[in-house]
Amino acid sequence: MGVALQTTGKDRRKELILSTIQTIASDGISNVTLAKVASNSELSPAIINFYFKTKKQLLLDTLVFLEQEWTSILQSRLEHAVSAEQRILGYIHSCFDQRIFVADKIAAWYAYWSANHAVKDYRDILTRSDQFDIQLIKECVADLLDQSNSSKLDAEVLARGLQGLTDSLWRQALISSDSISRKDAVEMCERYLSQFMTFDHAPFESDFKNNEVSDLLPFWTYQDDEFFELELERLFQPNWMLVGHVSEIPAPGDYLTFQGFGERALVVRDKSGKVNAFHNICRHRGSTILTGEGRCRQSLSCPFHGWRYNFDGKLQFVPGQSGFSNLDPEKYSLKPVDLEIWNGFVFIRFVSGGASVQEQMQPIEHEIEHYRLNELQPYQEPAQYAFQNPESLPINWKIYHDIDNEGYHVPIGHPTLQQLYGLSYVDSYVKDIPISKGRFNERVGNLWSVKHYRNLMPKFEHLPDDRQDLWLYIGIFPNLVLALYPEMVEIYMSIPCTPTRTEVIGKCYALPDERRGIKALRYLNRRINMITAGEDYFYMNAMQEGLKSSVFPKWTLSETAETGIRAYHHAIQTRLPVAKLENKPRPGT
Ligand code: FES
Ligand SMILES: [Fe+2]
Repeated sequence: MGVALQTTGKDRRKELILSTIQTIASDGISNVTLAKVASNSELSPAIINFYFKTKKQLLLDTLVFLEQEWTSILQSRLEHAVSAEQRILGYIHSCFDQRIFVADKIAAWYAYWSANHAVKDYRDILTRSDQFDIQLIKECVADLLDQSNSSKLDAEVLARGLQGLTDSLWRQALISSDSISRKDAVEMCERYLSQFMTFDHAPFESDFKNNEVSDLLPFWTYQDDEFFELELERLFQPNWMLVGHVSEIPAPGDYLTFQGFGERALVVRDKSGKVNAFHNICRHRGSTILTGEGRCRQSLSCPFHGWRYNFDGKLQFVPGQSGFSNLDPEKYSLKPVDLEIWNGFVFIRFVSGGASVQEQMQPIEHEIEHYRLNELQPYQEPAQYAFQNPESLPINWKIYHDIDNEGYHVPIGHPTLQQLYGLSYVDSYVKDIPISKGRFNERVGNLWSVKHYRNLMPKFEHLPDDRQDLWLYIGIFPNLVLALYPEMVEIYMSIPCTPTRTEVIGKCYALPDERRGIKALRYLNRRINMITAGEDYFYMNAMQEGLKSSVFPKWTLSETAETGIRAYHHAIQTRLPVAKLENKPRPGT
């Protein structure tokens, strides 16, 4: 689905700035060089010179980036706040926002603070930002004191106390990034406030009163930072994520990686043939160990300082080990991640608990039994119709699935698909698993791809008659679709990056078959699907943009042709009841 996007100058510039932040965190601000930034970003020094003429400029622009990031996160929370309490909570949540409260950025902020006496430009930016923050906190605290009849207390002192507390929590995270969670940090600040004011910790439930309830996801859930974080925590981290297929890692040392919603994992086959999954986080200082996919010869080697791990995750070698006096290699194995292989597909899960993929998908086993999924091999897509993984789309991740969960748009929105199977397309459910089926129209049609695809379609011996002319789509909650065609299998899934940016990952697999006619058939499949994806890309963008409009109507769904959307929204609301609220609840509740 969707179309390939090229890396823009803006993206590349951001990439370099993020690499600078990483370099400051690892080497200290005074040791940053353009060459180190280039090597961390895997770009040539010439590219850095193109975007930033000097190291001084690069460092200054990096601070500007950090400051703008902070301001925009804070402002987006303040925008929705209508009371002093909501504003102060907005400030606290921004301090510990997952985009900011991360080890490298914390280290970079402190590095700039410590360098500010020597560089006036840093001092100006930091002072401006600091003054804005303290003024905001002071005003909120003063209002809150008024409301709680505690006006004898000194608002400025209490405001500085809160700022000092957030600073102390940041310093704790600077020293040891996993010693304090974002949730604990926010709670500590709330406890501070409750020392001198009546602080309403009203749970979500209280918001249901006086707030209309909707059985569709309200628009705010498509563009809200706080809800987005909740989705990552409740819908993504505890659910199974597809990494690939066992056929992609046939030999010892073959690996695949997964990256999304702040988590990284690697899947590797060990020397006994077993497939293992680990957090892709080096136990030394947290670097990514492997990227993309490939084959390691002897061990998993961290590119940062060269710590090496066996394929079963055990720490094997530490350069200069004598410098680490109490390092017990037994205690420094890579951290495992839940792993399940289901019909050859490799799934991982970051938070344990709940049903296995096998249990979850058991109700539709009969739908997939003939496709020999265990025997699939990666299918090399024709270049012009290949997914450019990962595509990044300017949409909320749910938009991607909303459009996929109904066939009402096929007759008008997808002329090619309509000609292939539009007359019979139907969405249904087996238990709560969405299944969509399109059976080829009786008339072959005249569009080039459809006509040739239909004419080339042979009989596939491994499939029963009712699968010979069927395109079958199966949803795996929350973000994956398995598309089963007679001649091949496709998977596509969404990985949320921000409330309004989503990566889309797709791959194709097929049973080995070198016949020319089959190759042509698969080529035509990709062509039809990529035409369709281009059309969907347009509709998805338009939907996301439409959410902002002041005259956007409430959604009106067909009771027959758009039931898939309603069911999908229901599945999300069941897991996140706050998503039933028509209006966004107060920040921090
Ligand atoms: S972070 Fe130092 S070796 Fe991996
Ligand atoms: Fe579509």
